[in-house]
Amino acid sequence: MPACHTGQINYHGQQIRIEGGAARHDIEAFQHELSKALMATATDDAKRARFARRIAATGAATGVDLAERFRCYLKAVGEDQAFLQAAQAGSAEAPTPAGFGRLDAHERGVNLFLSAPLREPKNYVPETAPVSFPALWDTPYFDWVLYNAAIRQPLPRNVIEALGVQGPIRHETIFEPRIAHNLDMDKIVAGQRALNDLKSPVWPEAILGLIDVAKANRGKDLYDRLCVRCHQLIDRLSHAPRDRSSGAAGDIIIPTFDLQSIGTDPRQAQTFERRKVTLSKIGGPAEIASYRAGELAAGKISKQWIDESPANARRAEEINFGRPHEFRALLAYRARPLNGIWATAPFLHNGSVPSLYQLLLPASQRSKVFYVGNWEFNPETVGFESDSPFEGAYKYDVSLPGNSNAGHEYGTDLSDDDRKALIEFLKTL
Ligand code: HEC
Repeated sequence: MPACHTGQINYHGQQIRIEGGAARHDIEAFQHELSKALMATATDDAKRARFARRIAATGAATGVDLAERFRCYLKAVGEDQAFLQAAQAGSAEAPTPAGFGRLDAHERGVNLFLSAPLREPKNYVPETAPVSFPALWDTPYFDWVLYNAAIRQPLPRNVIEALGVQGPIRHETIFEPRIAHNLDMDKIVAGQRALNDLKSPVWPEAILGLIDVAKANRGKDLYDRLCVRCHQLIDRLSHAPRDRSSGAAGDIIIPTFDLQSIGTDPRQAQTFERRKVTLSKIGGPAEIASYRAGELAAGKISKQWIDESPANARRAEEINFGRPHEFRALLAYRARPLNGIWATAPFLHNGSVPSLYQLLLPASQRSKVFYVGNWEFNPETVGFESDSPFEGAYKYDVSLPGNSNAGHEYGTDLSDDDRKALIEFLKTL
């Protein structure tokens, strides 16, 4: 699974890999360190020679001029970074640090795709709505994906992601009949194809403790009463709603709930809906919603690839399942089925609630500050240990923009006994 979607849980010295779960890395810090290391290697002859020897030993990249590659890379990255830093300096709002396991993928993606490369400060915004890397299981079968249920067809979704992480494209061709780019479409399609078979993880009783079946059954009644109308139950093996008699994979209809009714931090959906960019430098409109610009570029690139051959068209259909290409910007969040949810703390789209136990408390009783980055799991609360500070921790402060832990007050007036029974049932999903 890709970098942002491989989770891990530690328990009493045992490590559990969660394929398609939420990664716990701080990608901003990682990229910063990586750039620093590359800079050091580029500017130090001895380091560069050592690096070249190691590359040669792998048999890769023989014959390339490493010094020239470094020069190009550093020029591009250095200039983009300098531009983004200057744009941030000219902005009134401070970004909200994402910390471990989160990223403001939309704001950052647009900054990297349509602000830095165009040297267009008007297209820059500070990143203030970091979201948790979502779990990927079952997502190929969702009728819409992203927390605000914004994208319908898998291929353009993956293309826009590639562009948002600086996939190579000649921006000046976006509004021409054919877009010139160097995205590796085969890999983009193969990555998504692999997700079709990804199943949600099963609570490992041998490691995390036996499920108390009687208690979980009691929890199931509570779930049926309080949760199932929004979080439908699906069969984790067929990725289909449990009442679908054929068991065939089809769309899982993901219901959405408007921001006011759900009450969680509204920024992710709001910034997605509001953000505008100007593309006049590349022959585009003077103002267009950023998601519409993404829809246009990703749709065109996808179509170009599909039109190249019947084989491509067939492969696209293996991941698109007949869904049309469409982006939208609802002021709402979606409620996904909760199978595998036990492995994806912290909870809510912005990772603002450290455990399932806390999610089932009234918002006023949830932690206002907690510490992210410890992988040690707590099977009682179903979350990571996060109460005390430790070296290198990310201090999650719910008062920062994008970090609110309010809302989603369902099942929050249960007795403690019932709360634990409901958690026991959630562990079985
Ligand atoms: C009215 C619809 C609704 C009801 C009822 C509801 N939820 Fe939710 N739930 C949502 C929505 C919408 C979200 C996404 C909110 C967000 O991420 O900001 C969500 C998110 C969650 C999440 C976090 C998922 C994640 O990605 O981290 C969990 C866990 C959850 N719900 C559990 C429950 C449980 C347990 C119940 C029953 C006690 C319940 N929900 C009742 C709509 C609902």
